[in-house]
Amino acid sequence: MEEKEEKTSKTVVKIIDNGPLIISGNFIFQDIKRNIESNPGKVELCRCGRSRNKPFCDCSHKE
Ligand code: FES
Repeated sequence: MEEKEEKTSKTVVKIIDNGPLIISGNFIFQDIKRNIESNPGKVELCRCGRSRNKPFCDCSHKE
């Protein structure tokens, strides 16, 4: 039980090759418009600059 709680409390930043930056775990997200979402669980952020929904990835990197 303690091990599971420890895993979920960590913040993981994963870089997808030719894709987004995925952040998951326990964190606070503040976007460009200063909207704050506490602990959203997971966000996928665009790294290619083609997303029409920045700062989020909309899979335009696959086109
Ligand atoms: S990384 Fe997916 S749209 Fe940019």
